[in-house]
Amino acid sequence: MGFPEIRMRRLRRSATMRRMVRETTLRVDDLIYPLFVRAGQGLKQSIPSMTDCYHFSPDRIAEETARVADLGIPAVLLFGLPAHKDETGSEAWAEDGVVQQAIRQIKKRAPDLLVVTDVCLCEYTSTGHCGVIRNGNVENDATLELLAKMALSHAQAGADIVAPSDMMDGRVRAIRQVLECNGFDGVAILSYAAKFASAFYGPFRDAAESAPAFGDRKSYQMDPANTREALREIELDLEEGADLVMVKPALSYLDIIRRARERFDCPIAAYNVSGEYMMLNAAADAGLLDRDAGMMEMLTSIKRAGADVVLTYFAKRAAELLRRRA
Ligand code: PBG
Repeated sequence: MGFPEIRMRRLRRSATMRRMVRETTLRVDDLIYPLFVRAGQGLKQSIPSMTDCYHFSPDRIAEETARVADLGIPAVLLFGLPAHKDETGSEAWAEDGVVQQAIRQIKKRAPDLLVVTDVCLCEYTSTGHCGVIRNGNVENDATLELLAKMALSHAQAGADIVAPSDMMDGRVRAIRQVLECNGFDGVAILSYAAKFASAFYGPFRDAAESAPAFGDRKSYQMDPANTREALREIELDLEEGADLVMVKPALSYLDIIRRARERFDCPIAAYNVSGEYMMLNAAADAGLLDRDAGMMEMLTSIKRAGADVVLTYFAKRAAELLRRRA
């Protein structure tokens, strides 16, 4: 049997019909909202490179996260911009560091909101690299100890999930060990397992003041051409004790998300990064397409590819739209 008995359009005739047969749904529960914490007081400064994103000082971040929690978004991801940078990025593990202060403020106001912290040195080092430099190289093993200290200090401040984004080998094991040894066996690790050396981080590097002062990140982040290597990275991070794994960026890597979904039975996260966010915003600002429709289509595509969790600067807007629809 074929046409005319079979007509695919029958199931598209009305909004209700389409809703009933829809295969993929984006939920507020799937979203993580990234936020930038900057040293200082009373700050809520808009970030020029990223529409509707702000630098908050630790004393003002809880206003924002309370709104995020009210929208039903389960988690925020924190990035820190310290007052001072140095060669090893020592503010990254300071007890009164910006992120550590922010976590305490957020937890005081909204204890149920999950706090995820980005564990990486690039915002804290004077070199802008994600590890310590020896003889012009980003040293893998010497960096592990620093990342572990950073993750531990986040756990001590109250983080629920630590998210290493540096791409050093062995960091998940180093972090898992330090958490176990210090009584934080309940803190989860979301590893940026398959993180590609991407041009789409551009707006973020302005926002986080974390562009490398020399060279690039290609000796630690992955080559965008590689799939099998991405699967090995994920496999290794799971063996080392990651609870959730991430593919980053999302949109140029939907095939990697799908492959990871088919191969691994853990939650898969995908990061809809700053460049993806601003590509759509720039197009919408230019009057070329509809922002909200484009946003929902992008986020749905990431879920359709197989992601369980989507990290996105669109999280608040998407949550508002989803609430209105419900
Ligand atoms: C830190 C880090 C980066 C992003 C998240 N964590 C930048 C980078 O690796 O250069 C990018 C996030 C985004 O673009 O939205 N290593």
